[in-house]
Amino acid sequence: MSDAEGTTHDTGAPTRDPEPTPETGATRERVGDGKFGDYGGQYVPEALMPAIRELEDAYERYVLGNEDGFRDEFRRRIREFGGRPTPLQRADELSQRYDTDVYLKREDLLHGGAHKLNNALGQVLLAKYMGKERIVAETGAGQHGTATAMAAAHLGMPCEIYMGERDIVRQRPNVFRMKINGAEINEVTTGRGTLKEAISETMRDWATTVENTHYVIGSIVGPHPFPTMVRDFQALISEEAREQVLDQVGRLPDAVLACAGGGSNTMGAFHHFVDDDGVGLYAVEAGGSSLAVDEEEGVAPNSASLSTGTEGVLHGARTKLLQDGDGQIVESHSVSSGLDYAGVGPELAHLVDEERVQPVNVDDDAALEGFHRLSQREGIIPALETAHAFGYLEEHADELGDLVVVNVSGRGDKDLEAALEETEQRDIDNAPPMDELTGGL
Ligand SMILES: Cc1ncc(COP(=O)(O)O)c(C=O)c1O
Repeated sequence: MSDAEGTTHDTGAPTRDPEPTPETGATRERVGDGKFGDYGGQYVPEALMPAIRELEDAYERYVLGNEDGFRDEFRRRIREFGGRPTPLQRADELSQRYDTDVYLKREDLLHGGAHKLNNALGQVLLAKYMGKERIVAETGAGQHGTATAMAAAHLGMPCEIYMGERDIVRQRPNVFRMKINGAEINEVTTGRGTLKEAISETMRDWATTVENTHYVIGSIVGPHPFPTMVRDFQALISEEAREQVLDQVGRLPDAVLACAGGGSNTMGAFHHFVDDDGVGLYAVEAGGSSLAVDEEEGVAPNSASLSTGTEGVLHGARTKLLQDGDGQIVESHSVSSGLDYAGVGPELAHLVDEERVQPVNVDDDAALEGFHRLSQREGIIPALETAHAFGYLEEHADELGDLVVVNVSGRGDKDLEAALEETEQRDIDNAPPMDELTGGL
């Protein structure tokens, strides 16, 4: 069976063949069969299949087919409640520094402070259209949990969030935000207490409560239709960015950069550029402290599954994973909780194999330097996840062309404690004097 448990054993459970669904007016061909090349699929326990089928049907009818005006309501709410469209802003200081036009897609200005609301609002609204009465979600950095709690409060749905004990410590401000929005937090103490375990626990909950509960997954991971559906909600980012860059600059960019954990801000920022062959797409992963995997300890001191991972099954989908020779998932690491995941979305894995997306990575120190650089030079404190993209820009700006769009996936308020602590421990070159930061005014 499974892979809700988090192991990589593929029991050969078949993914379903394309089949027409005439009663809905949609066809399976419109959705595809959830495969991206060899990746994706539905590797889930039998108990979850009814929920997955119901969700596929709802995705086709409401999200693709706009039944009952779902899409119109989503677009209205993400505009009025979420604050879309987010700006595409020229970064004057960085443009001068790199002698390249650098534009920032400001998802940090979306309500909640990250791109996560695009998907969370879409899925909570979909749950309402499906007649569900309860929301569960996992969270790593707490941004998806926060966005889900906000969307659930906005739409009047009870909400429970699963979060690893380690992430609860790393991301305290978001724990408070979720609670203030009325969500219940379920602490996950298994394994390393990060995102992988939180996803597994949420899937376990969903498997026993499918009748009345919807699982709002936080990235383009999990069994079909989640990767495609989450991508569709997040694709607003590149839909807007493409129009904005054409409008503001008069041409398409040479490169689009986005950090990649599970990959939802990444595919969101890339989707409408995928067919534009001249636009380079760079998925910036967490290189952590090293790209090596310590097989004996079962630890990868990085989260670079696109750059270094191998094929396996995790959380219901075949994709690129950090695993040992026996197919056991190894522990991942990143200075940013939101990138700290041993897998990645199947669509990104496929686009990397097709050489359409370039997987790149920067280490923890470069990300922290990116965090301080954007704060000092542009007056924008980015999330530590986002800071990886700016770490890459610093190291490779001269290879990216004359016009670069960087997706600012989120703001760094949630990371202040972690960023100060990590900066102090690592002696980051471009940080302000630490005694000024930690010694009070
Ligand atoms: C601000 C921010 N950016 C990026 C990510 C990584 O997620 P994804 O790769 O799905 O965009 C997270 C995850 O929590 C996040 O909070």
